[in-house]
Amino acid sequence: MTNPPNPEKVREEISEFLRNRYGNQVAVTDVDLNIPHEGTATTQSSLFEQIDFTLKPTELEEYLRQYVLHQEEAVEILATKICTHFHRRKWELDHPDRETSAGQIKSNILMIGPTGVGKTYLVKLIADKIGVPFVKGDATKFSETGYVGGDVEDLVRSLVREAKGDMKLAEYGIIYVDEIDKIASSGNLVGPDVSRSGVQRALLKLMEETEVDLRTPHDLASQMEAVIETQRTGRAERKKVSTRNMLFLVSGAFSGLADIIRRRLAKGTMGFRRDEDLPRGDQDVLRRVTTTDLMEYGFESEFVGRLPVIAQLHELGETALYDVLTNAHSAVTRGKMRDFAAYGVELSFDDDALKEIARRAYQARIGARGLMTVMERSLIRFEKLLPTSGVRKLHVTRDLILEPERVALEILASDGVAVFQRKFLERSGLVLEFPKESVTWVRENLGGEPARIADRLAEMFQNYEYGMKLAGVQSQKVTPDMLADPDVFLDRMIKKAYEEKGNPGGEVH
Ligand SMILES: Nc1ncnc2c1ncn2[C@@H]1O[C@H](COP(=O)(O)OP(=O)(O)OP(=O)(O)O)[C@@H](O)[C@H]1O
Ligand SMILES: [Mg+2]
Repeated sequence: MTNPPNPEKVREEISEFLRNRYGNQVAVTDVDLNIPHEGTATTQSSLFEQIDFTLKPTELEEYLRQYVLHQEEAVEILATKICTHFHRRKWELDHPDRETSAGQIKSNILMIGPTGVGKTYLVKLIADKIGVPFVKGDATKFSETGYVGGDVEDLVRSLVREAKGDMKLAEYGIIYVDEIDKIASSGNLVGPDVSRSGVQRALLKLMEETEVDLRTPHDLASQMEAVIETQRTGRAERKKVSTRNMLFLVSGAFSGLADIIRRRLAKGTMGFRRDEDLPRGDQDVLRRVTTTDLMEYGFESEFVGRLPVIAQLHELGETALYDVLTNAHSAVTRGKMRDFAAYGVELSFDDDALKEIARRAYQARIGARGLMTVMERSLIRFEKLLPTSGVRKLHVTRDLILEPERVALEILASDGVAVFQRKFLERSGLVLEFPKESVTWVRENLGGEPARIADRLAEMFQNYEYGMKLAGVQSQKVTPDMLADPDVFLDRMIKKAYEEKGNPGGEVH
């Protein structure tokens, strides 16, 4: 579909739908499908009850710092600008008579930073704290199929859904669009330029101020709902949402942007400064970003103009990742502890293990997300096997992170032996001792099915209760030789006992 269907067409389709479903009993009356824009029910006071407008920048900053580590600059900028945004909205609601704010530019924010360093996390935390609805979209997902800007406008519709239909609240929501660098229109990107600048323009319209119809023209169901609603209540309900007070945040990794800035800086220095004075690392270079750099990167000047605030997020180094991991709010360690607790296994971590996880996560270069990846990769075997074992505590060591397979087998072999020993003792009152080398034998020979070690030992030693009683043996040391052929060993034990003492077992037969 390239254009929205006209109301006539929609009406026809609805009529047909109703005819097919209900025969001729139900018909569509001649209502106007271009529903007029009317006032809304939610009052200002209910809005203030829901949005924490009293929050001050330093308070929000302090709150965020508990969660988001090593991004002081971005935290400061976001906390301040977002607080100001909401205080401004409040001020405007309180002073409706003051001069119109036509032409005002909101403090929409551009975040530049690599993957997994806290961009989405920050926005989510802020939206939760302030109590406004929040939606996240991905710029790469916006196509201009359907009708121009339709997919972009869907963000606003999702915001209303997030606000559970409270349109007034939705109008104060936060829209966050990630991968914005992918809709830059030049550079070495694939795909048609036209569509990318088209998406920029559609987004621009939202960021500026526009009204979005909650009923998509191509959605027959919502059009039908409108007709039925109007028939029922006799009036057309307001279904348009203004983006005037919404806050927009966009972000991207902007690979290649540093080079653009570097080139500009190098040009500007001719004759003035020496090369050595220029910033070198990408992080430092990006700090110097200007609107012209972003335009050269492929953004229209109007688009960049709607993003007056730029916050830079940095790559997280090894120690930063360690801090994230050991932070009291770390979802990674706490999440994993809960996963294991769900099976009744208590998980704890050695500090060296956490350092190793951070080191490996850093190598993955996917920011804090790498922590999760490393954690999962190291613990997956334990997560699978411990629930069926007798192990109820797991202390994660550096060794475990380095060689999870080996350590898992070690733990499970010892556990399998212990479970078997305990069951054997409980049933027979007899003791089978397993010296270290025998546990090693178990690991090496029965490790193929680690979850079944105790059962396999029970099978191998099934004649031992009877045999040991016959031989009058209370406690037997299990050697690796014995493990290799338990029955032969048992025969020998019984024979030997008989040779030595006649019938040593007394009554036992
Ligand atoms: N600076 C940080 N401090 C604490 N935790 C962090 C930080 N950065 C990331 N995390 C953790 O990593 C997870 C992933 O980060 P987030 O979703 O914010 O990445 P992102 O920057 O949005 O990356 P992308 O560009 O790939 O979307 C967060 O949910 C959070 O648990
Ligand atoms: Mg993200």
